[in-house]
Amino acid sequence: MSDGPGDEQLWSAVDHATRAPSVHNTQPWRWRWEQGTVWLYADWSRQLRVTDPRGWDVLMSCGAALHHLRVALAAAGWATEVRRLPDPTDQSLLAVVRTRPHQPTEQERRTASVIPERRSDRRRYDLWQVPLALIREMEERAAEQGVTVRPMTDPATRYRLVSAMKEAAELQESDEAYVSELATWSGRLSQDVEGVPAANTLAAGVEDTDVPTRHFPGGELPRSPRQLNEPDAGTLLVLGSAREDRLSWLRAGEGLSAVLLCAAEHGLASCPLSQVLEVPLTRDALRERVLDAQTHPHIVVRVGCPLLNAPPLAPPPRRPLAEVVERATAVR
Ligand SMILES: Cc1cc2nc3c(=O)[nH]c(=O)nc-3n(C[C@H](O)[C@H](O)[C@H](O)COP(=O)(O)O)c2cc1C
Repeated sequence: MSDGPGDEQLWSAVDHATRAPSVHNTQPWRWRWEQGTVWLYADWSRQLRVTDPRGWDVLMSCGAALHHLRVALAAAGWATEVRRLPDPTDQSLLAVVRTRPHQPTEQERRTASVIPERRSDRRRYDLWQVPLALIREMEERAAEQGVTVRPMTDPATRYRLVSAMKEAAELQESDEAYVSELATWSGRLSQDVEGVPAANTLAAGVEDTDVPTRHFPGGELPRSPRQLNEPDAGTLLVLGSAREDRLSWLRAGEGLSAVLLCAAEHGLASCPLSQVLEVPLTRDALRERVLDAQTHPHIVVRVGCPLLNAPPLAPPPRRPLAEVVERATAVR
């Protein structure tokens, strides 16, 4: 009987987990492990107090990292059993992950292999539509995480969503505290270890798609080559679930990761978009006018075929692993 993954395997799995997307690249997580068990904690000191006062983006970011961890462990030969939010008196402890030996499948290896390559791509996507079969696959992968995916294929519904997204962006941009918080995390240099690098965000005034994207100041990406009046062919997916509590936001992050990695496996570009969920007015509008009122929306994902010859995006930086990992013997 094996004792569980060794330090080297755990180090590598957590390294993969920290490649997960996080709001403004805040990386709001901490990890701890001892033989065979990994603990995931939220680092609430990294919460965006203005943009994310309820901490939902923190939970989703950590959920995405949890899913990345599970994928990396599975590919390394370790199945996982996860207890989510196991201690109601500890708001920071998000998950306890136990491992047991497992024979990795080809699919698991493929999914893990794209973790280092996935990027949030805010540029214009190609006119090729994402094939329906791939959208179905993303729906299935999210459903395995307890998350529903609603593709916005009907033009009228898509229009209502895009209108709500525009309204959210305008409301946020008229709030000085929001603008200042965003500036703190934007326009970073490649040697920084957190925040969104200038090289990965659009330059001022570049509206590359009809879908409103967050205006990170200091961006450097130029306008993509395009024909005038060409619509953006990216598909918008709304991820949601039947509930709106801490567990559902954590699981939404896991579903988000499943969708983004599935897209990356198929060579698709993708970007999470959370502004419309961060503004109560537009979140309600999204729930009532875009989804059926039973489903709570958690995040929007834009997914599409990258433009031919689009240069690869540099990997956004991450904090050194030693800063976010502790051995179990250390005190939290
Ligand atoms: C919960 C969450 C919300 C996000 N919201 C947005 C957003 O509204 N707009 C955007 O351009 N990127 C958004 N992102 C993407 C992050 O900015 C991105 O993951 C981070 O900068 C790291 O870059 P990477 O995904 O390329 O590794 C979000 C990511 C997460 C996990």
